[in-house]
Amino acid sequence: MKLPAGFRPLQLFGCLILLLGGGGCTKTPDTAAAGKAGGTSQPIKIGFLVKQPEEPWFQLEWKFAEKAAADLKFNLVKIGATDGEKVLAAIDNLAAGGAQGFVICTPDTKLGPAIVAKAKAANLKLIAVDDQFIGADGQPMKNVHYLGISARKIGESVGQTLAAEMKKRGWKAAETAVCMVTFDELATAKERTDGASDALVAAGFPREKIFRAPVRTTDIPGSFEASNTLLTQKPDVKRWLVGGMNDTAVLGAVRALEGRGVPVENAIAVGINGTDCIVELEKAKPTSFYGSMLLSAKEHGYKTCEMLRQWIKDGVEPPLDTRTVGTLITRENFRQVLKEQGVRD
Ligand code: GLA
Repeated sequence: MKLPAGFRPLQLFGCLILLLGGGGCTKTPDTAAAGKAGGTSQPIKIGFLVKQPEEPWFQLEWKFAEKAAADLKFNLVKIGATDGEKVLAAIDNLAAGGAQGFVICTPDTKLGPAIVAKAKAANLKLIAVDDQFIGADGQPMKNVHYLGISARKIGESVGQTLAAEMKKRGWKAAETAVCMVTFDELATAKERTDGASDALVAAGFPREKIFRAPVRTTDIPGSFEASNTLLTQKPDVKRWLVGGMNDTAVLGAVRALEGRGVPVENAIAVGINGTDCIVELEKAKPTSFYGSMLLSAKEHGYKTCEMLRQWIKDGVEPPLDTRTVGTLITRENFRQVLKEQGVRD
């Protein structure tokens, strides 16, 4: 097989393994121009591991990480690490392939201590993105560099948006209930849905009418199943407000409402991410998916890589905790906002 100039067999081997694992491999075209790590002759190589590579959010993080690799001249290895075994194998492969660090959204936050130990042994720097590691004591590992969203605040904005839209439509609390799609196993998810519920209560909505639909899996089928179970138990509710930890959670509930024949105008659903609901907002006929809190995939994908590269190259340690914000997008403004944020052309 003829290899591209400057492409070492080890890298090809690494790419093949990663591709089999559901990931991809991106290489800046000119290795000679790539930044060098800490005064060694090694070009900088950074891994970017995500838990759900099929989710548009993570694809967008990768897109911005690729942009950082092209702008800042380092090699990027994208890895879909959907379970603990894949994460640990990927760290070994990165180390064998000459990487100096990685950014990771782990498939299970309790893997934190194992990931840290493995990275340390392999002399790899790491930044956790999106989902903060949880230590053996059940608490967030605050000594591991992390970039994530201001989860509680963004959740509160979801609750406020739902309450405002309900008021605008003149709905009565007596005929309305909330379907909150929850995943309390993940701290950032719990903070978001707790924030949304608390903001609804603060706006006057009765807490006893906020019903939880706990998911087993964080995909649309998982959320559909959980929501459908709740809706079956509450056949007398006329109007529904819907929240969840991200667009996927909320979209599953929207599909369940449709499946049970709840008219589009009798439900208001607000997601988080703003990236996994674009197709929904583009549909010619509106659904009950009202809007989403658009997060900054650029900060999560580009900035994490930029911070890690600087840490590797110049020894500049990033802040331990960086938080990002959200902006509401609806059918009215999403095209404009997505363009401004560089998500869409
Ligand atoms: C979690 C969710 C993603 C996205 C990120 C944002 O990882 O699973 O869908 O919301 O947080 O940080």
